[in-house]
Amino acid sequence: MARRKKIYEGKAKIMYEGPEPGTLVQYFKDDATAFNAEKRATIEGKGVLNNRLSEYFMTGLTQVGIPNHFIKRINMREQLIRSVEIIPLEVIVRNFAAGSLSTRLGMAEGTPLPRPIVEFCYKDDALGDPLVSEEHVIAFGWASQQDLDDMIALALRVNDFLSGVMMAVGIKLVDFKIEIGRVWENDYHRLIVADEISPDSCRLWDMQTGQKLDKDVFRRDLGNLADAYTEVARRLGVLPTNVTHAPKPTLIN
Ligand code: TMP
Repeated sequence: MARRKKIYEGKAKIMYEGPEPGTLVQYFKDDATAFNAEKRATIEGKGVLNNRLSEYFMTGLTQVGIPNHFIKRINMREQLIRSVEIIPLEVIVRNFAAGSLSTRLGMAEGTPLPRPIVEFCYKDDALGDPLVSEEHVIAFGWASQQDLDDMIALALRVNDFLSGVMMAVGIKLVDFKIEIGRVWENDYHRLIVADEISPDSCRLWDMQTGQKLDKDVFRRDLGNLADAYTEVARRLGVLPTNVTHAPKPTLIN
């Protein structure tokens, strides 16, 4: 197939022009970054796994009526998505304390939170995606009050869905990040889940052992990241047929 026009390259994905207006092709790279790209690596097979896992979660969202950008998977690393106007916020939902919340508030990782907590970070790599308040979001015009209310409702629905899906395979959804975009219909817009949902953007802990099965494995040097993502995919029954990092078969004489 002729190479498509590149629209944008991020840290973990590339966007290409889609085959029809209003569509894009989202390509999942094997690159992993952490701490605002201070730490980088190429993890063979990560893009293939995240393409499959994001397809799985987005398809599930569609099945329970939560609007999102996913149209269809094209191949091992690419999916067709609806093009949206991304709201420049990372929307984080937390069920248990971890990561930056634990650091900020001195709360032990794993402490249950009294209710799911929604946070917003302003998407700006140069600033390191700083945490912002709802006041900032409104005052700086990143989203309207209505958008904000809709984003919170959407994020909490995603949280309920994802928590249930993960619990069913023995994994605790500690927290996650989504991005949300606007799609325009005449003069009106509605908000849909965009970007990706994968272990790159969630904290996933084994219910029994507490073992981390997400990007913290890379951030904190806890082992092989592709193995952790493969375990998530295996439990969900979405293992790709030929994961590139799988060990080669050995001959038994
Ligand atoms: P945090 O505890 O580092 O703020 O992360 C909260 C959640 O957001 C966690 O599930 C990881 C995810 N996340 C991203 O997807 N992208 C990011 O750049 C960061 C910092 C966190």
